[in-house]
Order: sequence, then C-alpha cells, then structure tokens
Amino acid sequence: MERFKSKLSSIFPNISGSVSAKCPSNIALIKYWGKREVQIPMNPSLSFTLNESNTQTELRFSPQTSGEFQVKVYLDNELKEDFAPKIITFFKRIEEFIPFLRNYEFEIRTHNTFPHSSGIASSASGMGALALCLTQLENQLGAEMTENEGLVKSSFLARLGSGSACRSIYPGITVWGETSAVEGSSDLYAVPYPYEIHESFRNFRDQILLIDEGQKEVSSTVGHQLMEGHPYAKKRFESAEENLNRLTPILKEGNLDEFGTIVEHEALSLHAMMMTSTPYYILMKPNTLQVIEKIWEFRKETSLPLFFTLDAGANVHLLYPQKNEKEIETHIEKELKSYCKQGKTIKDFTF
Ligand code: DP6
Repeated sequence: MERFKSKLSSIFPNISGSVSAKCPSNIALIKYWGKREVQIPMNPSLSFTLNESNTQTELRFSPQTSGEFQVKVYLDNELKEDFAPKIITFFKRIEEFIPFLRNYEFEIRTHNTFPHSSGIASSASGMGALALCLTQLENQLGAEMTENEGLVKSSFLARLGSGSACRSIYPGITVWGETSAVEGSSDLYAVPYPYEIHESFRNFRDQILLIDEGQKEVSSTVGHQLMEGHPYAKKRFESAEENLNRLTPILKEGNLDEFGTIVEHEALSLHAMMMTSTPYYILMKPNTLQVIEKIWEFRKETSLPLFFTLDAGANVHLLYPQKNEKEIETHIEKELKSYCKQGKTIKDFTF
C-alpha cells in the first residue's frame, strides 16, 4: 500500500483550476460478486472495456480552509445532492493516498453518453473518470507520476470507489483480483490482460437489450453483502477462478463456442447466487428468459456465435463477433428487439 501514498508534501498551492477525464464502462465476463474489507474481491474477475458508453468528468477545484470535505456533484449541469454522500465515502477511503482532499472545494461536473439505469454501470465509468481526474490533479500539484504509475494509481483509487471501476481504466480485456491464471494480477487494482488474444475478439460486439429500465431492485453493494454467509459462496468463488483459468486458452485460440459456454455460465451463476441468498431475489424478468431461450434457439438453428451475459439486473448483453454482425443484427431487429422497453437497445463494442 505504501507505493500508493502521495509524494506531495502537505502544503498545497493557493490556486484554482480544473482537470478532466473520460472513462468507459465495462462488461464483466467473469463476474465479481462478493467482497471483503476494503473493496477486496473474493474472486478474480475479467471484463471487456467498452468504447461508446463512457463518462466525461470535469473536476473543478479551489482552495478552502473549513477542514471538511466540500463537494458538489452535477450530472448534465444539474446539481445532484444525493450523489455527494457516495463521493464523501470515497474521499474518506482515499484520503490517505490523496492528501489534498480537504484543502480544496470540489465541483464534479459529469456527463454519461448512455442513459441512466440502462444496465450499463455508470458507477464503473463514473468512478473511473473521477479517479483519473484525481491522479491528474495530483500530478498538476507536483507528484510527478509517470503515465503508467498514474494509471495504476487511478485503478487503485477507482477500486475504492466501486470495485468494477478499477477494470475500466484500461481498454481491451482487463483482470482484477489476484489469480495464478494471470501474471501480475492484484486484488488492489486491475491490469490489462497480458496474454495473446485471438483476433475474433477484436471489436467484439456488446449490444444491450433494455428489458427493464427502472431503478435496480437490489444495489450491487447489497448484492455483495448477500454473499457473506451464503451457503454456496465458497464454491462460487472457486468456480469463478476455474472459469477464468479455462478462458485463457480460449481467448488465445478463439474458440467461440467454449467462450460462450463460460460466459453464460458466469452470468447464470451470478443470478443463481441471488436466487439462493437470504433474502432471495429474482433479478431477471419474463422477457429476460424469453430472450435467453431465443438466443439458444437461434444458435441451434444457425450455429452462429451469439451469446449473452447479464449484470445484476434484467437487461441482456448480447455478445457476438464483428464478423457475424450482419446476420446477427438482422436477427436482433426481427426477433429480439420486441422484448425491449420501447424497442430500445444500446450498441457498443470492445477494442
Ligand atoms: C454484477 O463494482 O458495482 O457488475 O464494488 O460495491 O461498487 P461495488 O460493486 P460493483 O459490482 C459489480 C458487480 C457486477 C459484476 C462485475 O462487474 O464484475
């Protein structure tokens, strides 16, 4: 942890200014579900960082002497009073690594390129963008981190804001959580996936079917807590690690069917955990299941590589290679869009 302590002295210049950063969201293929203090995952996770779905954040700062954290958050120029407590919790967690948080008052101005409650994690892109702003500001105040040091620290800080956010700092495939399957992996920050990736995964599509647009029924914070004392938790954590191990040769060789088997198993395992926790939840909606059945039918009939994953909600992330985009998009238009709220989908892709 010592390496993340700031090199800055405790006297900060009497200046105002602003920094800004952009950070995408990500979709986990191997899911993080279950954590211990402070923001340490119970199993390693792996995700595709997205391209289109991102958060742009400007962090304005000016000197203050109240000794308290002073922060205002604006989403699309609208003051969001209810966002401040989450940021204050974050600031408390990172204060030991970012020493100037009480010396300035902050205005966080943020914009997402995707709709709120769309099944895309705005906490991942939002915390990622804020962490990038903070390391930039640390450098502006004289920390002299190299680009690489800045990214590692941003990932480390983002994790303390929201676990999955630490994976969004890098493009492509990233891994968070210490595992023998990935050299250099850590519980404290994410790393870019260091091994060979088959070209089938380049530009891999993630099209999100908006089955349900409402507020999440269960927040991921509560979801993670439900894994404490869960009767199947231990097995689930082992299974995630096994799945990650199995994925490594698949990512290299480009075996799409095996890829789909692991990714869908992960998604359904996450939901199985929610269905068997105390209290228990069903986060899928009838249309989620209909879509899953349709995907399986389509695969059986056409042998085309269309797969799904789910987050802790009802929306379905359709995953498919760019190569098969045409036939698969036609199928989505004709057969799957009707299951979405107002036919809405969001198109994104990996690297
Ligand atoms: C289902 O990263 O949102 O999306 O650390 O409490 O902020 P906190 O949780 P969060 O959990 C993400 C859960 C998930 C799976 C994943 O992205 O790995």
